[in-house]
Amino acid sequence: MMAWEWYHPVKVYFGENFFYKLKDLSLDKPVAVITGKKNVKERGIVGRLEELIGNDFTLLDFVEGEPTWEVIEKLRDRLSEEGVKTVISIGGGSVLDSAKLAALLVTNKGVKIREIIGVRDFKFENSPLRVIAVPTTSGSGSEVTPYSIVIDRENLKKASIGSLYLYPFIAIDDPTLTYDTPFEITRNSGIDAFCHSLEVFFMKEIHPIASNFALNGILLFIKFFMNALNNDRIARAKMMLSSLYGGYAISNVGAGLIHQFAHALGVLRGYPHGFAIAIYVVPVLSWYAGYKEGLERIKLLEDNLGIKGLIMYLRKLFGDIGIPDVGKIGLGEKEIELMVSIVERRKTYFDKFVVTPKRDDLYRIALGGFEASL
Ligand SMILES: [Fe+2]
Repeated sequence: MMAWEWYHPVKVYFGENFFYKLKDLSLDKPVAVITGKKNVKERGIVGRLEELIGNDFTLLDFVEGEPTWEVIEKLRDRLSEEGVKTVISIGGGSVLDSAKLAALLVTNKGVKIREIIGVRDFKFENSPLRVIAVPTTSGSGSEVTPYSIVIDRENLKKASIGSLYLYPFIAIDDPTLTYDTPFEITRNSGIDAFCHSLEVFFMKEIHPIASNFALNGILLFIKFFMNALNNDRIARAKMMLSSLYGGYAISNVGAGLIHQFAHALGVLRGYPHGFAIAIYVVPVLSWYAGYKEGLERIKLLEDNLGIKGLIMYLRKLFGDIGIPDVGKIGLGEKEIELMVSIVERRKTYFDKFVVTPKRDDLYRIALGGFEASL
């Protein structure tokens, strides 16, 4: 009989205009708001926040792009200096990831981020500051996951740090915050959300709770993703739900092989996370399809989704919205070598996948050398 565990401690509020829930929460002061400069200021979210909780908070708005260890340490130092008790993080996955980790490092002085990048269950001694996570994109699911992705550019590292202390205290999913997200961010983050759900089905053991969330996350993606790209508000709300389900799905299972390649490509090329994910979905699935166990999982998904030729379906979908094939991004020999060595650093996790890739397989996937055959 199959054995499994499940742990999920986040209080979630989901609904249009639930951003206003912030007004009803009793926040321990001092409060810091962590966000990205452009996203939130230009869109007036900080102004709305002041109407809700007053202006007695420290604004830390220097999280830009993907989360580097340097930015996270700067956040940690500022939170520490101000004696912050509650962190409100508003933004995309990078902002939420940075805020969660900074809030944990404040209470665990002496932990060096660079030394624990890629550690899935790091034993922090102390619980973090309270974090309220408010996503403005539908993708990372970070508001309900125990992970933070961190980049160390110098050492070509990009991987998540995992700890049960990285679960936020509260998540507020308000789809109205995603209504004016630009096309490319909606596209990249939507594919990331999809991939979180997808990868659950390529673990050796399919987790019974995670896979329920994952299947529903994928169904929502298939039904609403294109309309969300066309700015349909109902579809954008459904994509936020898909992202939430994706977050639940990986929260207890972890991400799979597509994420490993995407992290490597991301650190080598500086591509946004979701864009790098989108490039490697088809090569990894095509590789799995070459093995009996992998093919069974693809068929299982096809049966549940009512889609024939899932790989071809995804290849066409991604091609139609401007995602290039791996072969078209001009990876040189040196980059391929680096990519394989970066992915290989994670090989202790490979036996969790339904098929364990060997070095040769990593090269073949990196090159995208498997043509979709289904
Ligand atoms: Fe992801």
